Amino acid sequence: VTGEAPARPAAAGKRGDYPTVRLRRNRTDDWTRRMVAENHLAPADLLWPVFVQEGTDAADPVGSMPGVERLSVDRLVEAAGRAAELGIPAIALFPHVPAERKTADCAEAWNPENLVCKAVREVKRQVSDIGVICDVALDPYNALGHDGLVADGRVLNDETLHALIRQSLAQAEAGCDIIAPSDMMDGRVGAIREALDAAGYQEVKIMSYAAKYASGFYGPFRDAVGSGGFLAGDKKTYQMDPANSDEALREVMLDLREGADMVMVKPGMPYLDIVHRVKEAFRVPTFAYQVSGEYAMLKAAVERGWLDNDKVMLESLLSFKRAGADGVLTYFAVEAAERLKAG
Ligand code: PBG
Repeated sequence: VTGEAPARPAAAGKRGDYPTVRLRRNRTDDWTRRMVAENHLAPADLLWPVFVQEGTDAADPVGSMPGVERLSVDRLVEAAGRAAELGIPAIALFPHVPAERKTADCAEAWNPENLVCKAVREVKRQVSDIGVICDVALDPYNALGHDGLVADGRVLNDETLHALIRQSLAQAEAGCDIIAPSDMMDGRVGAIREALDAAGYQEVKIMSYAAKYASGFYGPFRDAVGSGGFLAGDKKTYQMDPANSDEALREVMLDLREGADMVMVKPGMPYLDIVHRVKEAFRVPTFAYQVSGEYAMLKAAVERGWLDNDKVMLESLLSFKRAGADGVLTYFAVEAAERLKAG
């Protein structure tokens, strides 16, 4: 660097030569930045999706999601205990279902001894102070990989509702706190709510995947649960078109009318405009899912040394809060909560 520092403005400088309003003044120090921060991220904002597998003492890495493991139920219980200690309010369970349990009628979905039900029972028995969220959709159990029952190449709506009801009741019976329908069939929230109430599960909550898009960002998830290879075609006849956003408000409105307690937008980062519109329009508990592909792309760049892990992790999570989300389902949950705790 050569030359002298620019002269400071003369005290007698004419008004108008320099700005009197300086937004940088509030950014001079860490304390002042903290003082004016409009949004905050805390462990209570983080919901943790976990992949579960059969066996004992097993933790197998998911290749396309660095740092993520599929856990056997005993390992899940330990992990849930750590998450609870960190202040993470809830975990969401996703089963890895072996090929031989996948059928056309998806009956494993409501088997009370299925992996999800076993996992819920053990977590609820052994860990206090953490909520358990269960996905309701048939894809882990479907030989064709779809979220609904398939006949003649079409995903059936109303027939699927009966299967989703059975799945929800099995999960509620196992002790699930929050039923999260992710299937995008029409009318599923109302059908599930009615069935839960009739069976005495009035306190079981519903977090609907209200605006769930037919997205390319779910690829690593389908690897993790072993459903990708089975999927016949795509999910565009039931998941939303990424071109639409008014339609998302309509989906949310219907789910709320049908009794959803909380709603979710999915994926996350590419859909922050939707999160914002939903929160502005309805002012209800609104969550976003930072999905597997979003996690994978950040981690892949971090592994190459192109991005700083902690910076992009916390910045991406904070962006959900800024958009209006009340919380984020994220594979970073534990890492982020640890980082937030460390300060
Ligand atoms: C199943 C389901 C999916 C995800 C959550 N629940 C995949 C899909 O709809 O194909 C994706 C989550 C992620 O990518 O992290 N219905």
